[in-house]
Amino acid sequence: MAESFDVPLVEEEKFYLPDPSYKQQAWTKDYQKAYEEFLADPDGFWETQAKQLEWFKPWTKVREWNYPYAKWFVGAKLNITYNCLDRHVANHRRNKVAMIWRGEEEGEERILTYQKLFHEVCRFANGLKKLGVAKGDRVCIYMPLVPEQVIAMLACARIGAVHSVVFGGFGVNALNMRIKDAEAKVVITADVAIRRGKTIPLKTIVEEAVVNAPSVEKVVVLSREKENPVELHREMEVDFYDLMKGVSTRCEPEVMDAEDPLFILYTSGSTGTPKGIVHTTAGYMVGTYYTTLNVFDLKDTDVYWCTADTGWITGHSYVVYGPLCAGGTVVLGEVTPDYPDPGSFWKIIEELGITIFYTAPTAIRMFMKVGEEWPNKYDLSSLRILGSVGEPLNPEAFEWFYKAIGKSRCPIVDTWWQTETGMQMITTMVGEPMRPGFAGKSIPGVVADVVDKSGKPVEPGTGGFLVIRNPWPSMLRTVYKNDERYQKYWDTIPGCYTAGDLAVKGKHGYIMVIGRADDLIIVAGHNIGTAEVESALVSHQAVAEAAVIGKPDPMKGNTIKAFVILRVGFSPSDKLKADLTYHVRMTLGPIAMPSEIEFMDKLPKTRSGKIMRRVLKAKEMGIDPGDISTLEE
Ligand code: WT7
Repeated sequence: MAESFDVPLVEEEKFYLPDPSYKQQAWTKDYQKAYEEFLADPDGFWETQAKQLEWFKPWTKVREWNYPYAKWFVGAKLNITYNCLDRHVANHRRNKVAMIWRGEEEGEERILTYQKLFHEVCRFANGLKKLGVAKGDRVCIYMPLVPEQVIAMLACARIGAVHSVVFGGFGVNALNMRIKDAEAKVVITADVAIRRGKTIPLKTIVEEAVVNAPSVEKVVVLSREKENPVELHREMEVDFYDLMKGVSTRCEPEVMDAEDPLFILYTSGSTGTPKGIVHTTAGYMVGTYYTTLNVFDLKDTDVYWCTADTGWITGHSYVVYGPLCAGGTVVLGEVTPDYPDPGSFWKIIEELGITIFYTAPTAIRMFMKVGEEWPNKYDLSSLRILGSVGEPLNPEAFEWFYKAIGKSRCPIVDTWWQTETGMQMITTMVGEPMRPGFAGKSIPGVVADVVDKSGKPVEPGTGGFLVIRNPWPSMLRTVYKNDERYQKYWDTIPGCYTAGDLAVKGKHGYIMVIGRADDLIIVAGHNIGTAEVESALVSHQAVAEAAVIGKPDPMKGNTIKAFVILRVGFSPSDKLKADLTYHVRMTLGPIAMPSEIEFMDKLPKTRSGKIMRRVLKAKEMGIDPGDISTLEE
């Protein structure tokens, strides 16, 4: 991990205070009091949250903590979909809108009530059973952001199958690796995803990715192109809706143990292979439910839009499980912020009367660049609360979001969390003073801190490592088939979960997250491992060696720059640069494409042969490389 970094200059005394009415009507009315109550009785605090949900059998113990292994709601039996669906269908929410989907084309909209969603989930769950999918089996979901993706996830959870959703922007190798690691029995996909008016052939990618993946027995295909339907290879492939034909709209929920796995979600690590983060049932449910209510302050009348794809943890926790457990109306948009024009998001907000809007800093910075005239064309007065996630929300972007979108009226919750944490951990709760540049404080239920390598809290204003001191319900339980990698999170700094981020605690106790401390690059909010990109490059016949760095970018936060040594017989050219970029696109997917490639004769290495990316980065940015005593020559 990096040793030190410059603390960005921000105005610490500057803050915004929302109208007192926000605090008066919030689920958490008094942050300080709630936090103290939590500290006084952590188990009691979480028990109170859990009791709001329905259980087939209650727990005998709230928490069992055997460092670094936690069990939550020990002995309890439940099904998360019972809380997302049955619970609402049985009460006043039966005909409430659960989900509104929007596509790119004018007029493309689908609305599902809780009753309808419940039936669809049960039917698809019964369909999966017909394919022989049973409790504990892994199912890979590689789909666009359509209601069927959510239906597929919930159907898996209904029958106790473990889903592994892979973002539709990943390429063949990335998908293949994930299918193989999880040993998925079934892959669910669609013929195409639609993005900026173009179709992306997902099924073609799946066809290639299931080669050498012997665990896969069936591929379920959602056919969206009605006029030009894809041909199915019947020995292996089944149509999504055919699978739902002739089955019951009832499917008894599988009785799950609190600690039964709910899903695996792969995230980048510091090696070339992604980590399969494992989340279990009860703790994840309670954590996402509690935060949806208390961080977003979700009410029954809200129309809530989180712009993340369900392929990321943000989509799992805050498009699907959290808001549905809380009985919310969730908007799903297979849309991009700048297509067909930079008004696309604002149009949806106006038309659907969105009240809570959760998006990413990279999108906000793009909107800033194109100017206020775009949001000003639309009526955004329905907005009540704004949220941000994925990377630091820099003060300039905060100000713009607050003023141009929130009209200096809506609180912004800048939420820090990770795939591993499952739920939001640090933010400024609705009603509390917001300090631009700072995410905020630990939410009640969480003890985050900024420490040095020995685990000692750093002085205010000094940089350090972001850690979590206590176990929390929705924490990852392990890394799939690689518990050593799990232990590493808890081994690095004594007594703490190490998040891998650098942070500063300001004098008001607010935490400012600076960025990653390790070999991960966050590009437009997506976590990408330098090692993954490097090994993709090296798999090209022209490449002998590669080193990848993140280069600060005003829009995307970071972009990827690759330094490449060519093999003998190959010479640098623009054509080769384009080939290499394309190669990464095909192997890992468009999100991991380098935006710059530089050919080198030599890479800076330590005497032991480790590439010193830090030196490359310093040179690139024209700054002091720091300690280079280990550099060879
Ligand atoms: C990393 C986790 C959690 C959902 C999306 C990303 C960065 C996330 C913030 C924030 C500053 C943030 C961190 C973190 N990050 N939210 N509000 N402020 N940084 O999930 O792919 O697991 O990435 O995203 O660096 O470690 P992920």
